[in-house]
Amino acid sequence: MNIAIVTGATSGMGKEFVLALDKQQQLDEIWVVARRQQILCDLQSQVQAKIVPLALDLTKQESFEQFQAKLQEASPNVKVLVNAAGFGKFLHFEKTPLATLMQMIDLNCKALMAITYLTLPFMKQGAQIYQMGSLSSFQPVPCINVYGATKAFVLSFSRALNVELAPKQIKVMAVCPGWIKTDFFSTAIEDSTISYFNRYYTPQQVVEKALVDMKKGKDLSILGFPVRMQVRAVKFLPTKTVMKIWCKQQKINTKLDKK
Ligand SMILES: NC(=O)c1ccc[n+]([C@@H]2O[C@H](COP(=O)([O-])OP(=O)(O)OC[C@H]3O[C@@H](n4cnc5c(N)ncnc54)[C@H](OP(=O)(O)O)[C@@H]3O)[C@@H](O)[C@H]2O)c1
Repeated sequence: MNIAIVTGATSGMGKEFVLALDKQQQLDEIWVVARRQQILCDLQSQVQAKIVPLALDLTKQESFEQFQAKLQEASPNVKVLVNAAGFGKFLHFEKTPLATLMQMIDLNCKALMAITYLTLPFMKQGAQIYQMGSLSSFQPVPCINVYGATKAFVLSFSRALNVELAPKQIKVMAVCPGWIKTDFFSTAIEDSTISYFNRYYTPQQVVEKALVDMKKGKDLSILGFPVRMQVRAVKFLPTKTVMKIWCKQQKINTKLDKK
């Protein structure tokens, strides 16, 4: 049985991957993971493959036990894994509740790693793994501080894993877009700390580019010329300058230049 597994499938990037993979791949089933069961079930009306809803909170340890048990019971051939569950908060570090920051690391890093780990034994030559990173994978981001750090983890983990899995011909790619119009913002925005969003892409554009880049054998997918330029620039500019530009854009009060 050929399947794809997509986390964060109720919304935004995850949902878009479900729709696109259903068209691109020959899949018997798509296992969709997120907390909102009814929305997962509703995906069935939009795809050909059988939707298998796994209503799991990926910040909870028992979810991984349930996920592993389901894999062991069905023993599928996982052709594609997409780790798109994730969230951020646009707030000063000290104003963000500690529990929220811990959950962010649990979901964006630990869950992404654990789902990858548990799924790999069910993947063969030619299998593909898409990991949702971000433009913030490449630079420290004041006031999206912990989120940016989780995305740096995703990038580093995914690129290194891609090298480790090369002998098995399993591809791992980090998808690192700029801003995308999704529900991400309704979770992330608490006040006006972050208010300047220079440009938005759509989930369709990001997924389309990711599928093309995977076919080309890339380990990194970045949509849009300005985003690619920013990724290049932050490699050469001093990190202090990069953060200063960001803080200026966002009108974040900082004394960085006096340090
Ligand atoms: N939007 C952007 O500007 C942007 C830019 C760069 C990267 N990204 C990354 O892209 C990925 C997808 O984000 P998005 O923009 O598509 O946001 P989104 O529309 O808010 O989707 C987030 C998904 O994660 C799921 N999720 C949240 N908490 C969960 C939990 N505890 N357990 C299981 N699933 C959970 C949500 O489903 P439930 O609520 O049903 O659980 C939802 O399906 C994230 O990793 C994000 O960091 C987004």
